Amino acid sequence: MVNEAVQQSLTPVMSRRAREANPFRAMVFGEQADKMIASGISVIKLSLGEPDFGAPPAVRDAMREQYDGRALPYTAAMGLPELRQAIADFYRDRHDLDIDPKRICVTAGGSAALLLATALTVDPGDDVMVADPSYPCNRELVRSFEGNVIDVPTSAATRFHLNAELCARYWTKRTKAVMITSPSNPTGTTIDFNVLNDVCQFAAARGAWRVAHRG
Ligand SMILES: Cc1ncc(COP(=O)(O)O)c(C=O)c1O
Repeated sequence: MVNEAVQQSLTPVMSRRAREANPFRAMVFGEQADKMIASGISVIKLSLGEPDFGAPPAVRDAMREQYDGRALPYTAAMGLPELRQAIADFYRDRHDLDIDPKRICVTAGGSAALLLATALTVDPGDDVMVADPSYPCNRELVRSFEGNVIDVPTSAATRFHLNAELCARYWTKRTKAVMITSPSNPTGTTIDFNVLNDVCQFAAARGAWRVAHRG
């Protein structure tokens, strides 16, 4: 029988990357609130932006159909071709944008998309610009790929977003990408369309990636 000390010494150590990641404090806060609710305390949870509604009827119908035994083969790695086409159609109808479905990749949620986008764009030593405050996970993703986060201080005057002037002030020779979250988490403010356009043009002119997502 292996004693406890030996057992512990045999426990594999998580990667440095995993050990150095900061906790997602909003989730920790939310779990704490759940514990208080479970112990009978009346709590109004304002920590996480959780939906209080279920899946839409069309999704429920599709799930029922699946439940009845339809085969579940692997799907195309970039997403179902029909779904990618439907997403391209949505952008055409809603935003008048012509996007080739081949450029669309379907992921299980925003975090997976951000992880892939960071993996695709950030090399060790690259600088990535983010607004401060902004979505905390973005910083962890950049650090996971050994990039440096440039935290650009923002205020209510810039709606807590980057603008071209702030980009120019904090730009470095190693700046490889700009990450923009609108509406922002945690402030909830949206970036003005023209400001977003200016930031993207500023970054594009310097050969940097523009990673934009919704909060
Ligand atoms: C700005 C922002 N990006 C990404 C996410 C994560 O999205 P998902 O739950 O789809 O992975 C959140 C969730 O709160 C968010 O606020």
